[in-house]
Amino acid sequence: MNTPADQHDESVMPEVPSRPGDARKPLEKLMSHLHGEGFCFMPGAELRANLAARDAAWDADWQRFAASWSDLDLDRYMADGGRYRRRRYATLSGAPSGAITLEPHQPHYQSLDYNRLNGGVARYFEPILDEVVSGPTLQAVIGYGFDIFANLHPAQHAHIEVHQFRIEARLDAAGRPTPEGIHRDGVDFVLVMMVRRENVESGTTETFDLQGNRLAAFTLTDPGDTALVDDQRAMHGVTPIQPRDPSRPAWRDVLVVTYRRKPAVS
Ligand SMILES: [Fe+2]
Repeated sequence: MNTPADQHDESVMPEVPSRPGDARKPLEKLMSHLHGEGFCFMPGAELRANLAARDAAWDADWQRFAASWSDLDLDRYMADGGRYRRRRYATLSGAPSGAITLEPHQPHYQSLDYNRLNGGVARYFEPILDEVVSGPTLQAVIGYGFDIFANLHPAQHAHIEVHQFRIEARLDAAGRPTPEGIHRDGVDFVLVMMVRRENVESGTTETFDLQGNRLAAFTLTDPGDTALVDDQRAMHGVTPIQPRDPSRPAWRDVLVVTYRRKPAVS
């Protein structure tokens, strides 16, 4: 994994994020952060160690995985009229046994309760490419997140939604990673992983309690930097991005995986 020379946002990081510490710490250590604060920032090095523990092959697939963000379709549902977001989408199911299966492609739906800007309608996005969704990198990330979900909600089936997002920024049009503002996703657990930042300023992740009090702010800069959020206990948002060099393309690629409890299929 390459690390972009992008440390600018560190200088404006207003608060020290919650960090689990040693990359080799067990899942229980991470869970204590989630139980205590409702969120956790995991540096890329720690995520890489955790993914390697699940599947040593995950790393060899990273380049194909990351390159697939260059083949995303424009999101035409943006109620703010913006044309700065590209995406693909997939739905999976997780069973208490740990088995994760891809579901038939389907629209993405959020109620207006959770997305006042774009919710309330079924939104149809192109599926994540088969070789990406079945590849070792994405499978390892989904599985790792499902382990965390299973600790938050033992013995539950999960409805899993996977989103590839690219947010583009221009000098005359900032890119808004979360145009709906500070929000919950309306699920149980959310994993947000940085894939790549290119020529981007800002894009700071902020977490809040359910009363709207800010808990922390941190910037996902390096590939693999990850925010883990208990969506039942914390809200989140990301500040707009601007191009650092207006003469060059600027974008922010992230993977978002959400997990929601669902009834067992009889
Ligand atoms: Fe969100």
